[in-house]
Amino acid sequence: MSGSTEERHETTGATAAPARPRTLVATEGLGKYFPVGSSLFARSQKLLRAVDGVSLRVRRGETVGLVGESGCGKSTLGRLILRLIEPTFGRVVYDGRDIVPLSAGDMRPLRRKMQIIFQDPYSSLNPRMTVRDIVGEAIQIHKLAATKNDEEEMVAGLLRKVGLRPDAMGRYPHEFSGGQRQRIGIARALAVQPEFIVCDEPISALDVSIQAQIVNLLMDLQDELGVAFLFISHDLRVVRHISHRVAVMYLGKIVEQGGVEQVYGAPQHPYTRALLGAVPTPDPEKKRLRIVLEGDAPSAIEPPTGCPFHPRCPRMIANTCDREVPTLAEQELGSGHKVACWNPHME
Ligand SMILES: Nc1ncnc2c1ncn2[C@@H]1O[C@H](COP(=O)(O)OP(=O)(O)OP(=O)(O)O)[C@@H](O)[C@H]1O
Ligand SMILES: [Mg+2]
Repeated sequence: MSGSTEERHETTGATAAPARPRTLVATEGLGKYFPVGSSLFARSQKLLRAVDGVSLRVRRGETVGLVGESGCGKSTLGRLILRLIEPTFGRVVYDGRDIVPLSAGDMRPLRRKMQIIFQDPYSSLNPRMTVRDIVGEAIQIHKLAATKNDEEEMVAGLLRKVGLRPDAMGRYPHEFSGGQRQRIGIARALAVQPEFIVCDEPISALDVSIQAQIVNLLMDLQDELGVAFLFISHDLRVVRHISHRVAVMYLGKIVEQGGVEQVYGAPQHPYTRALLGAVPTPDPEKKRLRIVLEGDAPSAIEPPTGCPFHPRCPRMIANTCDREVPTLAEQELGSGHKVACWNPHME
């Protein structure tokens, strides 16, 4: 963005601590089905498959971008990983440990390590609290400061880190612009020194001119602190800019994932191609792909049989794609580029 098309690479570069490619968070066959419809008539109750068997890995210090159309399950996946909602099935492994069975008490020390930044910097900050109290609250909950003075200093340091002046402390959220409020939200998330942050559309409510500033702030903070991000966005250009790896989601499933250059440079899934084709581009050849994504995604309540994308897919093979679910697998062994498709693009 902001004129730069440079991509981030798998390694974390020469800055800060040496690259530690260890897995920090992994989901294994994770699923969330929501009951929908009338609960009076239990038999008519249907299940909405918001997340349907997702296995995704985020390494220490890296950014994994998560993209896909509205309603495909991105936020649900992010909330499952943080255990803000309980999975219907599957595992969430944090730093080697399955956290799904943990009690609230056992989760507490982990809650500190996993944070979330929300889309809407207006509704996610308590309007009656000062910035000092908003950022200081988490420090108090986790008893990270010995004295009030220490806490004050920590808050001031955090505000500086996110590009706000310490005199912001005594003010209330409504006194700030959208971008500044998002900085406050980031300072709050950082207050507990997290290792992992789910960024759920953190810039989509902001003016375009402000978006790049917040994205660059997140990238700088990652370089400095080594924090890992799951970066949820429907803005494919931003995701390309900020991510090391990318996962593409469709109707509750990951249909393609890989390094950012693999997925953007040589997309294999017809859905990924269609999504990338939907990015405004002067290339007339891409027009044809745009047509593919006309119409809404099918419902996650009664998802299509076989490949979930087959009803909209230009490469559908009858009697295969409509019958059997393709698994997410590497076409080229060892490449790390995976696709769930019976007929992927392989040029
Ligand atoms: N608490 C809930 N009860 C019932 N259905 C839900 C609930 N939360 C989410 N859903 C449904 O699950 C599906 C996935 O929702 P989710 O919010 O995860 O999608 P998303 O990819 O984040 O979409 P967006 O890009 O619009 O934010 C949607 O069909 C949504 O309506
Ligand atoms: Mg969402």
